[in-house]
Amino acid sequence: MKILVIGSGGREHALCWKLQQGPSAHHLWCAPGNGGTAPIAQNIPIAASDIRALADFAASNAADLTVVGPEAPLCEGIVDAFIARGLRIFGPGRNAARLEGSKAFSKEVMDRLRVPTARSATFTDPAAARKFGRQLGFPHVVKADGLAAGKGAIIATDPAAADAAIRQIMEERAFGKAGDQVVIEEFLDGEEASLQLLVCGRDWIVLPTSQDHKRVGDGDTGPNTGGMGAYSPAPILEGPALADAENRIVRPLLDGLPTLGIDYRGVLYIGLMIGRHGPKVLEFNCRFGDPETQVLMPRIDGDLAALLSACADGHLDRSAFALSPRSALCIVAAAPGYPGDYPTGQPIAGLDANLGPDVAIFHAGTRRDGDTTLTAGGRVLAVSATGQTLRAARDTAYAAIANIHFPGIHYRSDIGSRALPAR
Ligand code: AMP
Ligand code: GLY
Repeated sequence: MKILVIGSGGREHALCWKLQQGPSAHHLWCAPGNGGTAPIAQNIPIAASDIRALADFAASNAADLTVVGPEAPLCEGIVDAFIARGLRIFGPGRNAARLEGSKAFSKEVMDRLRVPTARSATFTDPAAARKFGRQLGFPHVVKADGLAAGKGAIIATDPAAADAAIRQIMEERAFGKAGDQVVIEEFLDGEEASLQLLVCGRDWIVLPTSQDHKRVGDGDTGPNTGGMGAYSPAPILEGPALADAENRIVRPLLDGLPTLGIDYRGVLYIGLMIGRHGPKVLEFNCRFGDPETQVLMPRIDGDLAALLSACADGHLDRSAFALSPRSALCIVAAAPGYPGDYPTGQPIAGLDANLGPDVAIFHAGTRRDGDTTLTAGGRVLAVSATGQTLRAARDTAYAAIANIHFPGIHYRSDIGSRALPAR
């Protein structure tokens, strides 16, 4: 098959890596790609936001399948645009992608379908939002309605913090149009885990469970990031807990979406809070997680291209999917200063070390310059390892990342700690 992967992060490198492993041979393009996709896919200099140019490229090169990484083009309707031109594409349409693109919409859907989630209300008026927050008590969570690159949820511990969050989102427009509305939500206690599903209408395949680490520092300290590491499986979401989440959340949601006119096809990422009252939904994402994909791909045995193209065609091909019994863990190496300002263009050493069959390095913010690879983003790369146990995967990943160097490299030393005792 000829496959176009859209995006430029670690997630897209991991998708290309898995697709390139077969079992059939594929020709891969990645638009725009990064320094890690360049050797395995042909990087095409078209931005992930340029839907028309991407569709022109797929049409004129007779791509058999397009796989979309990031949420923004999905929310902008890339799937609808491709389908209108007779092009096969994996991902939800614009209507379905609103589950990620609008928190107000996702809360309305969950309330209508009785999917367990935090109690909330949506406001266009800041004064009404403040009043509802006071009624909920503290802490509570203030969320920008629209896409905000993972930064739109603010936990308010007191009235002054709540007022500041509402002001920032609705008046200062810190996230632009995403702040037209706010969702004020009850604070949930518990442990977070991610459930990613391959969804086709009412049917689903459970992909490997995972947990990520959002804060920049060890012990979950410091500011939020796009994710500093992840591991799979997430022990808190295995066995009966997984069955519980499927029964209480996945089934009512997927049975109900068609009644609301939504035919969901693609990956549905459900961010869960697992607490005393069972699992509750924190958020939906309409795409693979990043960095979760960097631990998910090494745990999928089977034919990813067949799986994704069947889903694009409207069915799930269970024969193309098997879950690896191994565990996987990835550590993100970030540029100095990240998630604040950081330098780019710094050479990365150690990428050629022979790290063995259990290790893969997935580039995120890198670019090639002749024979060297330079940093080009805040999250530079992820070192991902598999093992018979989570502990073995962690030890292999930490041994491997010690080979990688660039000025100011930093990474957390406690990835996996929630599932394992201290190193
Ligand atoms: P979201 O963008 O909705 O996924 O929120 C981002 C992060 O904020 C989540 O991963 C949680 O860590 C935290 N969060 C969001 N909503 C809640 C909630 N209702 N209770 C506690 N923490 C939350
Ligand atoms: N790692 C969280 C996300 O992909 O949204």
